[in-house]
Amino acid sequence: MSEATFYLSTPIYYVNDAPHIGHAYTTTAGDVLTRWHRQRGERVWFLTGTDEHGTKVARTAAANGVQPQDWCDRLVDDAWRPVLSTVDAANDDFIRTTSERHRKGVQRFWEVVRENGHVYEGSYEGPYCVGCEEFKFPGDLVPGVEEFAGEQVCAVHGRPVESLSEPNWFFRLSSFQDALLAHYEAHPEAVQPTSARNEVLSFIRSGLADISMSRSSVSWGIPLPWDPAQVVYVWFDALLNYVTAVGYGAEPGTPEAEQFEQTWPASVHLVGKDILRFHAVYWPAMLLAAGLPLPATVFAHGWLLVGGEKMSKTKLTGIAPHTIVDHFGSDAFRYYFLRAIAFGQDGSFSWEDMAARYQAELANGLGNLAARATAMVERYCEGVLPSSGLLGPAETALRDKLSAAAATADAAVLVLDFAGGIGAIKEFVDAVNLYVTEQAPWVLAKNGETERLHAVLYTICESLRGIAVLYHPVMPKATTELWSQLGAAAGLGAIGDQLVTGAGDWGQLPAGSLVVKGESLFPRLDEPAS
Ligand code: MSP
Repeated sequence: MSEATFYLSTPIYYVNDAPHIGHAYTTTAGDVLTRWHRQRGERVWFLTGTDEHGTKVARTAAANGVQPQDWCDRLVDDAWRPVLSTVDAANDDFIRTTSERHRKGVQRFWEVVRENGHVYEGSYEGPYCVGCEEFKFPGDLVPGVEEFAGEQVCAVHGRPVESLSEPNWFFRLSSFQDALLAHYEAHPEAVQPTSARNEVLSFIRSGLADISMSRSSVSWGIPLPWDPAQVVYVWFDALLNYVTAVGYGAEPGTPEAEQFEQTWPASVHLVGKDILRFHAVYWPAMLLAAGLPLPATVFAHGWLLVGGEKMSKTKLTGIAPHTIVDHFGSDAFRYYFLRAIAFGQDGSFSWEDMAARYQAELANGLGNLAARATAMVERYCEGVLPSSGLLGPAETALRDKLSAAAATADAAVLVLDFAGGIGAIKEFVDAVNLYVTEQAPWVLAKNGETERLHAVLYTICESLRGIAVLYHPVMPKATTELWSQLGAAAGLGAIGDQLVTGAGDWGQLPAGSLVVKGESLFPRLDEPAS
């Protein structure tokens, strides 16, 4: 048996519009988590991509006077791929639902499900929200306000839904109700956080009705192999990206088939809470229908809010990720959103809060510590890291704190408590800053207490070594710079190869490392242009 892969997916994003920070939030969380697992020495696969079929995208293309494929190509190249580098994401693959590998896999999958007897012909009559691309139940709708007062509207988009009446093919979702409940009873970790699990369980317990798996009034999609006049319903096309991207349906013996063996089932599907039902009810039912194993965990995070509502382009509240990254940098973007908002809950973004944390925690906290440490080694030791000699009580206390911070951060990140993980590392940064103030190496230097001075300088730099390793998944750029300022690569190798699980082991940075005071890790910022 080969080692299992930590396989993480983001949702695939609709290409009807350009990304805003709500989308970048999911990608960033996925990137931090996968970088963390890579630095635990695990085999990792990080997938993201774009959802290109369906009414929403087709209408947007038409409104812009272009063919849907041209529209998708343009948005993917100009907006969705670039946002990955904007937030510094290191994804392993990018799947597009208009790609050939996806189309083949989707057609194959539904053939199998049909052969297994879970698909039948019928017709759908009822409400449909194009914004959600979802067949709605009466309980999903809420009374509209302002211009839509007196109408029933979509609870997510706040707009009226459309009335559909069309022949299509149905998926026998109802026959998987008991199997899903049994699965979730046996695997409480399969839907997280608990609020999401409760929502899913109550939805399943309320009774599952069969659901349309195809559309006859839509043409922008993947044709059903047995009825090419209809296309696969966009969600039942999109969800399959998680298997088609890793080789589902490939000929046995091919590298793709081998990848599927090694990669599926997914470890974590990261999703926003608005698309939980698709991932925790429809998706596992589809997999059961095809005889495939179920993902280990679906984790639903909260929304970035503006004025108390979900940030969205439709409501003109979307902020483009680059407007924040251009000002603060990608590291600060990644740090801020995962540190300031408890993952799983909603949160708001404000320039003031972000600027305040940047200044206090990054520029004055970590940046200043690194600048002081490297400057002192340059000044008092000609840039050569001294050996520590004997550790006194203050040094052993700091050593123990690093070890505790590493353990706490690891335990927190493994359960997607990013704020807890970052908080533990940040507390250690504060402890090291306090140590510097208390030990006052400049006084030791002035008094000629060389032995103590060396012990203190070593302790600070070794602490920074641990901080760099632990923060690397969160802030890859600044920690790579810090690694080079510490001269750590010569003795320890590349920063990305350092294990977070070993970060708390004291005494790794070799004496003799060449320390340089380089660029400021988090430069002072001008006021944002208003
Ligand atoms: N295409 C579907 C997903 C298919 S997955 C098989 C979709 N796309 S989306 O572009 O509308 O949203 C993608 C992700 O972005 C979702 O997880 C959604 O929750 C997230 N976000 C969109 N707006 C958001 C906020 N304002 N805040 C946080 N996340 C939000 O749904």
